[in-house]
Amino acid sequence: MEKILLLGSGGRECALAWKISQSSSVETLYIAPGNGGTDKYGKNIAMSPLDFDAVGTFVKEKGITMVVVGNEDPLVAGIYDYFQADEELAKVAVVGPSKAGARLEGSKDFAKGFMERHGIPTAKYLSVTKENIEEGINFLRSLKAPYVLKADGLAAGKGVLILPTLEEAEKELGAMLDGMFGASSATVVIEQFLSGIECSVFVLTDGENYKVLPVAKDYKRIGEGDKGLNTGGMGAVSPVSFADDVFMAKVNDRIIVPTIEGLKKEQITYHGFIFLGLINVEGEPYVIEYNVRMGDPETEVVMPRIASDIVPLLRAATTGNLGSISLEIDNRYATTVMLVSKGYPEAYEKGKLITGLDNVADSILFHAGTKKTPEGEVFTNGGRVISVTSYGETKADALARSFESIEKIDFEGKTFRRDIGFDLD
Ligand code: AMP
Ligand code: GLY
Repeated sequence: MEKILLLGSGGRECALAWKISQSSSVETLYIAPGNGGTDKYGKNIAMSPLDFDAVGTFVKEKGITMVVVGNEDPLVAGIYDYFQADEELAKVAVVGPSKAGARLEGSKDFAKGFMERHGIPTAKYLSVTKENIEEGINFLRSLKAPYVLKADGLAAGKGVLILPTLEEAEKELGAMLDGMFGASSATVVIEQFLSGIECSVFVLTDGENYKVLPVAKDYKRIGEGDKGLNTGGMGAVSPVSFADDVFMAKVNDRIIVPTIEGLKKEQITYHGFIFLGLINVEGEPYVIEYNVRMGDPETEVVMPRIASDIVPLLRAATTGNLGSISLEIDNRYATTVMLVSKGYPEAYEKGKLITGLDNVADSILFHAGTKKTPEGEVFTNGGRVISVTSYGETKADALARSFESIEKIDFEGKTFRRDIGFDLD
């Protein structure tokens, strides 16, 4: 029986907690720090996932057998290596890559170089620092509009600029190198713009074997029709109509296999999730980005579509036995619609009372930015508040259920998109 510590506090972690709690091989589940919904599935612990000493002490005290890392920050900061360096903690299964592996997300320059070394299809690029800014400008001039500039390091999802004119691109390149995103943009990756439709492919690997989880598509812009500012994600659907067998065979052969082979060749330890942000350019998949954890809100539709017990799969990912376990998929559609605070992704207020949660019977409510009082009242506590997930025989059925459930929930400033899935069959 596993004693599991799940790190993170978003809708993704709520969906992971929901799924883990259904396992027949879990004795206890802790979520640190968790949110106003995760306590339904385990015990919330007020502890920062970035405070490795506190996490390590807690793991020893409670006899935790498995740590599931939900968000990228602890991985990029090296939580896997921290555990490896301690005799007792090294025995604990950590689901997530080593610090070296987490560079796939933590450094866009590393990720592009990795793809180049292993022949993985991605946009043409050049990495630029203040040293070679002239070369960068020449590269920009060789590309067609629009222009894509990416801060090398983590920038909370805000480090990518897509600029319509060369003039703006040159100006922003200078601003980025001058510290627009702090140290994250001391190196900037300039990329060729790829035109197509995106999807998110998730792979669980033990470094040798792998399982491809259900494919999802998320909706990042605040406004309907994919207009307005980028957010953490306003909704997601799974499956994705264009990610058919033909497309997925290309993804497997050209992207997944070379990625896992590449990690092995570079002797990078990787036991965990690989998130491939893909773009379909006239039927051909290209990698837009790697992430080293599950997506949010994609997890809120991917976990519901996994029929198998997730815990043996997670355990196998850490022991090299993933090849001997099967992954069963639920063939229904799953959709999720994110309820967000008014004003998000810009300034918004927190602390609004959320009512009606108990009236929802036909959807699963994955809490994101919520907080529960000791009396059990739930208040908003972030930009993204609750992800409303539903199943359906069709995408339309599932979405209709999510929208019916949303009618039953209320808080001041409740905002959501009614067009999730609009661009898919
Ligand atoms: P990223 O943080 O790398 O996922 O980039 C954020 C978003 O910018 C992506 O989801 C894409 O919509 C867009 N994007 C990034 N790189 C490119 C590219 N080379 N061509 C077109 N769109 C891109
Ligand atoms: N939904 C995209 C992400 O989690 O990065």
